[in-house]
Amino acid sequence: MLLNRFEFALMNNPVRAAVQHHVEARRLLRMGGAMNGGRALEVGCGRGVGAGLILDVFGAHSVDGFDLDPRMVARARRRLGRRGSNARLWVGDATTIPVENDTYDAVFDFGIIHHIPQWRFSLREIARVLKPGGRFYAEEVLGAFIRHPVVRRLFDHPQADRFDAAEFRKGIEEAGLAPQATEKLGGAFAWFTAEKHRSA
Ligand SMILES: C[S@@+](CC[C@H](N)C(=O)[O-])C[C@H]1O[C@@H](n2cnc3c(N)ncnc32)[C@H](O)[C@@H]1O
Repeated sequence: MLLNRFEFALMNNPVRAAVQHHVEARRLLRMGGAMNGGRALEVGCGRGVGAGLILDVFGAHSVDGFDLDPRMVARARRRLGRRGSNARLWVGDATTIPVENDTYDAVFDFGIIHHIPQWRFSLREIARVLKPGGRFYAEEVLGAFIRHPVVRRLFDHPQADRFDAAEFRKGIEEAGLAPQATEKLGGAFAWFTAEKHRSA
């Protein structure tokens, strides 16, 4: 689901970039470790801040990224243009990723799966495109936040079948990944790392 005007402005903002850098990426790095090379994918890459962090902070050799919103992909292309073939971007949907099985060493979700009505489909796709032993890093927004009356007024989120941290972790498991670490901030936000089974 595309962002409304309020959330679009919030995501294309230096404050969001600072939070992503100093809070989200740091936490996920501590939970899941660095990549030290390899191929990464970012689902719902927005304006490309996360993809830059995947290269510079997590140490991926290359990153692919896509977003449902062509305006976001255009911004990400401008931001990451100087990275050449180390950053490939396209307009796409996380429920049908146009990539072969077992492609990536890591997949990153910086707060997008709660925007997807059929969120379990996207977890299955992420599991499919990860290599055996590959890692999933996710930051997510939980149902309690999405259902809050003030949040409902300001944001456009799917409302049906939203998840809490335990349900998202179960979704990760049902998609074929082994959950590793989970951290929560109240009932509103959570961070997850998981690994694709080596025998998969
Ligand atoms: C809350 S924003 C986060 C953007 C970016 N990851 C960040 O952290 O700044 C959610 C993003 O997910 C994108 N999105 C929503 N549904 C999507 C889908 N099904 N597939 C890919 N991207 C999607 C939106 O266009 C938006 O850019």
